[in-house]
Amino acid sequence: MSEPITVSESVRLEREGDISLVVVANPPVNALSWHVRQGLFDGITRATNDGAKAIVVICDGRTFIAGADISEFGGGAPHAVGLQEVQTAMEDASVPVIAAIHGTALGGGLEVALCAHYRVAVTSAKFGLPEVNLGLLPGAGGTQRLPRLVGVPKALEMMTTGRHISSVEALDGGLIDDVVDGDPAALRDAAIAFANRAVTEDLPLLRVRDRDEKVAQARGDDQLFVDFRRGIARKTRGFLAPEYNIQCIEAAANLPFDAGLKVEGKLFMELMTGPQSAAQRYAFFAERAANKIPGIAKDTSLIDVRKVGVLGAGTMGGGIAMNFVNVGIPVTIVERDAAALDMGLSVVRKNYERSRSTTAEQVEQRMALITGSIDKSDFADCDMVIEAVFEDMALKQSIFRELDEICKPGALLASNTSALDVNEIAAVTSRPESVIGMHFFSPANVMKLLENVRGAKSSDSVVATTMAIGKKIGKVSVMVGVCPGFVGNRMLFMRGAEAERMILEGATPAQVDNVLYEFGFPMGPFSMSDLAGLDIGWKEQASSSSTIREVLCENGRRGQKNGRGYYTYDSDTRAATPDPEVEQLIKDFAVGQGIEQRDVTDQEVLERLLYPMVNEGAKILEEKIAIRGSDIDVVWVNGYGWPVYRGGPMHWADSIGLAEIVGKIEGYSASLGGGHWELSPLLQSLAGSGGQLQTYSG
Ligand SMILES: NC(=O)c1ccc[n+]([C@@H]2O[C@H](COP(=O)([O-])OP(=O)(O)OC[C@H]3O[C@@H](n4cnc5c(N)ncnc54)[C@H](O)[C@@H]3O)[C@@H](O)[C@H]2O)c1
Repeated sequence: MSEPITVSESVRLEREGDISLVVVANPPVNALSWHVRQGLFDGITRATNDGAKAIVVICDGRTFIAGADISEFGGGAPHAVGLQEVQTAMEDASVPVIAAIHGTALGGGLEVALCAHYRVAVTSAKFGLPEVNLGLLPGAGGTQRLPRLVGVPKALEMMTTGRHISSVEALDGGLIDDVVDGDPAALRDAAIAFANRAVTEDLPLLRVRDRDEKVAQARGDDQLFVDFRRGIARKTRGFLAPEYNIQCIEAAANLPFDAGLKVEGKLFMELMTGPQSAAQRYAFFAERAANKIPGIAKDTSLIDVRKVGVLGAGTMGGGIAMNFVNVGIPVTIVERDAAALDMGLSVVRKNYERSRSTTAEQVEQRMALITGSIDKSDFADCDMVIEAVFEDMALKQSIFRELDEICKPGALLASNTSALDVNEIAAVTSRPESVIGMHFFSPANVMKLLENVRGAKSSDSVVATTMAIGKKIGKVSVMVGVCPGFVGNRMLFMRGAEAERMILEGATPAQVDNVLYEFGFPMGPFSMSDLAGLDIGWKEQASSSSTIREVLCENGRRGQKNGRGYYTYDSDTRAATPDPEVEQLIKDFAVGQGIEQRDVTDQEVLERLLYPMVNEGAKILEEKIAIRGSDIDVVWVNGYGWPVYRGGPMHWADSIGLAEIVGKIEGYSASLGGGHWELSPLLQSLAGSGGQLQTYSG
């Protein structure tokens, strides 16, 4: 090998005999920063001018070009060649260009690789066009080139889900030409060998843009697209990007390459400049920002969690245990008696058996990592214990007293309480610094959010460990402070209070639910209550017709479980229908309360459901319960079904305009009253100064 030549700050040119290697070194993930683009362009040109007979594009470090440099999305990068010029230089090169791929080739990275004449990759490499997850589509020819290699059905699936595929799947689908067994070091040799073969065998300069055989199979086949759209309709409801990706693939099937590129460019710009992608990109960064806790040093020592204890194998405990077992951490679950334990463990087993991604063998492996017990002293060797018993302060305190006796010094003691005061729980132990809240969401093995609740005395190490373990088990973690209901439930209570009020004033449960459904939530509060069961916490003897919920229970309406709640449910399909009986019960109740019913507009419903949440969010920030406005959005998007294409309540409020919202809150406060309509001083001052909730950090 001759001396490498520096082409740009992140690209160098190497030579091995007849073959030139354009090597990208832009840590940590070789993102397509401007100097990478410039380097690739200059590297290809220079290699050709230097008489290379073939060119290998390869990357240093842990991955191939992993994608666009999203820090350049907002503009501001120095002027350099555009990606398209790089791609043209590769595609039109007079000698074969081979992309050598390890790690991940995603988004713009894959779009670069698609402009090589051939692609070779190590077995462990992954490929994908995940733009859809940021509300975008691949805007550098990916929508036109991918279907030409893998065919329309696979491209549809890959681009509307953003799924990453393996080398084996990529080879099978025609995306790559060879798989190299071995580590990334073997890739260089294999790619050079491939390049030499391309020279000696005079392999054609295959431009993906010229290939037609696979897209031709779908040409004019409208039904294929109709069926595909129908198949993903439920999952992608409300999102623009999946539909735009599909339209691009339709163009790839039906139009010449350059015309398809034009469609791609137009739709890309629409998404890029539209509110949905802005919200989704915001949400992406918000999740990352949530990991940073001011005052907790990066090198804070972590508790080494090798064994976890879970107390209670009910709805939450079983799911919580699954999270740890899934990453290979053994769990001891303790229940109060053998029957409850058996029941809890059998639900866990059933959950695994039902999951399509777990093989029979894996089910056994995972179950083998769980030890059931009815004796809390089995927690003695656990590094961390999570309590998930009934929501009752006296019970939780008595349990934490016991855990304090049993658990080894330094063990992390967490409560999964949904709303109780973590400080009061910590106070009964001799080690409040070890106590913290870890609020999982139901189903705990599925829901992404982990709302961690830092007590006044939780140590830095406990705080840092809680965040780290959340990451390890694949959760999106947010650290919040102690207050009733924390961030998520506290705001949910405000929404619920107005929902209840509005059905007395004349909105129907179906209207309220529908407004939220149309906004993008999976369901509204009344469907949600029916699903959970109206009789949670309801006792027949104590029931005094004091709320609509009590009235419904008294009338034998317990929710989905008995087919009758706010709605009536079809016994076969479980489809919900509004029930005149419920409307009458509500009317009668309203009359009893002296409330006159009227027509409530959908706009009023929306404002009265969501503005109190915005107001409460601002109060949460004022009180420093949330570290930053974007953390609140992370909670709502990942734990409560707020549509990510609307960013979260803080981002959404900013997009409406805080002054507008303040005006409305003042109006509702005057006409309706109620503590939750009391205007947050922070909201008022941000509205006055043109500030934002989403960027606020107290
Ligand atoms: N269900 C949810 O949606 C949800 C969501 C987030 C948080 N939480 C919180 O999680 C906790 C548990 O809720 P859940 O829904 O799983 O309740 P659950 O009733 O389904 O389960 C509680 C389990 O704890 C067991 N238990 C009670 N006392 C015990 C003791 N002394 N020793 C051992 N086991 C004991 C019970 O037998 C039961 O199996 C509560 O604090 C709740 O507020 C629940």
